[in-house]
Amino acid sequence: MKGIVLAGGSGTRLYPLTLAISKQILPIFDKPMLYYPLSILMRAGIRDILMISTPRDLPVFEALLGDGGEFGVNFSYAVQAAPKGLAEAFIIGREFIGDDSVAMILGDNLYFGDGLTDLCRAAADRDDGASVFAYQVEDPQRYGVVSFDPCTGKAIRIVEKPQFPESDWAVTGLYFYNNDVVRIAAGITPSERGELEITAVNNAYLERGLLQVAQLGRGYAWLDTGTHESLHDAASFVRTIEHRQGMQIACLEEIGLEMGWLDPDRARTRAAMLGNTRYASYLHRRIRDLVS
Ligand code: G1P
Repeated sequence: MKGIVLAGGSGTRLYPLTLAISKQILPIFDKPMLYYPLSILMRAGIRDILMISTPRDLPVFEALLGDGGEFGVNFSYAVQAAPKGLAEAFIIGREFIGDDSVAMILGDNLYFGDGLTDLCRAAADRDDGASVFAYQVEDPQRYGVVSFDPCTGKAIRIVEKPQFPESDWAVTGLYFYNNDVVRIAAGITPSERGELEITAVNNAYLERGLLQVAQLGRGYAWLDTGTHESLHDAASFVRTIEHRQGMQIACLEEIGLEMGWLDPDRARTRAAMLGNTRYASYLHRRIRDLVS
């Protein structure tokens, strides 16, 4: 399975923070925002990852992440010239995807919760159809909203940013698709806001009876980073957990080691390069723990 991180958008709600740099480069406590969604794809077992961003921001992503070798993965890069919607990622990434299935995660989505990796691996292992995740939110109007049949519990429909939501279950920004997504995305037409909506793709699967919607319950966090307030909240959340447990969320080198993808010597060199930081001493510690 291939992976895509879509990190476009102009981040206007975060001005002046994002006047010159991408939102997804901004820190969430001790690491760039992008590390968090990347950690989800890596833990799901995905090693070939395409980063899609704006012409302005892509060079910064490349400078930050390189070819992925520091984490034991392979990164490629592609431009989304204009904000034409999430589903355009599968048109831009058509050659990269080839005949594979593909997962996409949005570069500003933060997930946390025990069991998430298992859910993602199960979704990645499905041969047919698509899997998405739903999460209860206070402000469903801002999202794709899924309604469920009260008797069967099955998803009935998804509506993008409804004025009057039928439920409070938002479809989150992590999607697993079989290869049909390439054809489906190429066939949808732009919405009223002029975008190729991911909701149209999901509804195409749903209409065929091939969309699995897993509800993420109260034990999960799905955090927003769209405003100054939510950016601060996400950083506090990460800081609280990391300080309490002494474990890092989304340390990509650690995940590379755990997956058996990253050579321990390379991880040691990397930790040395990262200098006198908590991140680096954590990495040194995890190398000692993981490499006997
Ligand atoms: C997008 C999707 C929406 C989804 C959301 C998750 O919204 O269109 O369906 O619920 O991501 O973050 P947008 O970023 O376009 O506002």
